[in-house]
Amino acid sequence: MNPANRIRKAVVPAAGRGTRLYPLTKVQPKEMMPVGPYPAIDQVIQELAAAEITEILVITGPGKSALEAYLDPQQGRLPESDRPPWLSEFTSSRSAIYFTRQNPPGGLGEAVACAQQFIGDEDFVVALGDSVIISEDSAFTRRLIEAHRSGQVAATLGVQRIARQQASSYGVIEVAEETEGRLLVSNVVEKPEPDEVPSDLAICGRYVFSPEIFAELDNLETGHRGELQLTDAIVALATSGKRVQAVPLAGKELRLDVGNFASYSRAFVRGMLAHPALGLNFREYLLKLAAHLQDSGQPDPDRA
Ligand code: G1P
Repeated sequence: MNPANRIRKAVVPAAGRGTRLYPLTKVQPKEMMPVGPYPAIDQVIQELAAAEITEILVITGPGKSALEAYLDPQQGRLPESDRPPWLSEFTSSRSAIYFTRQNPPGGLGEAVACAQQFIGDEDFVVALGDSVIISEDSAFTRRLIEAHRSGQVAATLGVQRIARQQASSYGVIEVAEETEGRLLVSNVVEKPEPDEVPSDLAICGRYVFSPEIFAELDNLETGHRGELQLTDAIVALATSGKRVQAVPLAGKELRLDVGNFASYSRAFVRGMLAHPALGLNFREYLLKLAAHLQDSGQPDPDRA
């Protein structure tokens, strides 16, 4: 732990090829897909900046050079008014974004293992580059960090409620007990079959870990899809008696997934709606369009 006992480092895995969004992601990283008026990665970095993270390691892979170029804090080409909010923080000398490459990508566990030297002996955040969390003041990661620091745990997992039929896309947690609003996790099943879904709470792409996770990652064997799975390292932590807890998205918090067309299109619409300047007009447009789709006698907002 650093002297101030503060969590200040984050790892952003972003090496996945995004094949489920082909051809859109054939030459463009999925993390660069627009969610509202900013690329998805922007919202992830903004959330980390809001949690006072000052050093970020982005794990990229083949075909991700646009992501590296975009996140270069010296992207002075953008006029002041078009700069994403996090940029001013990361152009100061207090903060930095670094890159390393996972080539070829071999799973989320392997991606996080790439960060061992960067992290050293500190607790740290993992934020998946293709998962956007919409929360007031980008506060979800901050809340996760607070829960981690007060919980005396080896891992804190951000989770969201899902419908049972969605479980096969996620790591789904099994809850051992709930005390004072804390969910203690006994197991996680990665992409469960319908008959082995342990709960309706799925990992939403945000984690806080103690460096103990690296020992488990070192011992990992290939798991689901023949990849090194972060989930398996979390299960190893829990089964060796370390405390793992989960913090659910609350209230109006929402996770948007840029990974496939169905979820991506929703993410774009939600990102527009959440934008302070553009959201209201866009909402009006959607309402008019919905009225027209329901009743063709209503005016089509795209026709004069
Ligand atoms: C990964 C994790 C999974 C988690 C999901 C959230 O899966 O392995 O546990 O629920 O992210 O997005 P992926 O989406 O990379 O297949």
